[in-house]
Amino acid sequence: MQVVKTAHALSQALATQDAIAFVPTMGNLHAGHIQLVELAKTKNACVVVSIFVNPLQFGANEDLSNYPRTLDADLEKLKAAGADIVFTPSEQEMYPDFDASTHNTHQSITINLPSVANELCGAARPGHFSGMATVVLKLFNLVFFNGAKTRVAIFGKKDFQQLFIIRDMVKQLNLPIEIIAGDTRREADGLAMSSRNGYLTSAQKLEAPRLYRALGLLVDAVKQGRTDFPALETQTTQFLTQLGWVVDYISIRSAETLLPATNADLKLVVLGAARQGTTRLIDNIEFTLKPN
Ligand code: PAJ
Repeated sequence: MQVVKTAHALSQALATQDAIAFVPTMGNLHAGHIQLVELAKTKNACVVVSIFVNPLQFGANEDLSNYPRTLDADLEKLKAAGADIVFTPSEQEMYPDFDASTHNTHQSITINLPSVANELCGAARPGHFSGMATVVLKLFNLVFFNGAKTRVAIFGKKDFQQLFIIRDMVKQLNLPIEIIAGDTRREADGLAMSSRNGYLTSAQKLEAPRLYRALGLLVDAVKQGRTDFPALETQTTQFLTQLGWVVDYISIRSAETLLPATNADLKLVVLGAARQGTTRLIDNIEFTLKPN
């Protein structure tokens, strides 16, 4: 496994690669990330993983400076999983005008996204998805456009809205890249694995799986024929609020358009974001209804 820190070293390492499977991450790797690397391994391609905590996708009051950075442990895990190349750029490498004291990237050309990026997680995190899409496009350019003919990028369904936006960007900008989605990896109690779970106290960790269970109950209700989606969303929000959660949103959406679900939609997704203390957790469940 080769670890490269600069765009130049990356392009040299990739110059002779015909097929690349790429997994972008922000590090602090857990079994969910590693599952994406294993999926990449099935593509008979050079497996490239990036580790970069992207300042452009963090809001002013978010956890950029506290975000867990565990490079040595990450590299051990990636080696064991069989990654071929790990790209670990600095902020200055990704954003040459980066100002470390203010965390300003000076990236003035950014991706302008459709309004769905301002809903769900985008409502509480203005600019987050634009910053995410911008760094992903920059990484795609660095990783794929050295001449590789097979270009696959792998994202987790855990971040359903992110995956949706990336697919949309690839389609609308005609990027010749195949996007593959990996299933959400969970703890035994159902909690979706996340780098942010490390912020939870032991009491909060016990409560945390309830978000997934509450979404599961909502899915059951819809499968049993309930069509009053706004009422169901409110009910789940109230249920979690009574248990001490601060709920950002609970939303039933079309899995195909990410618009609020209508009674005509059969492919659905229920998404939720809620806080335990200062830690914001997100989760979602995709499901299909049988036509009447
Ligand atoms: P990060 O949160 O590190 O996640 C990297 C990838 O791992 C994403 O595609 C995410 O959906 C996936 N992932 C996270 N938890 C998972 C789980 N429990 N099961 C399966 N996959 C999981 O998402 C980002 O980084 C950044 O926004 C990034 C795309 C790298 C751009 O900066």
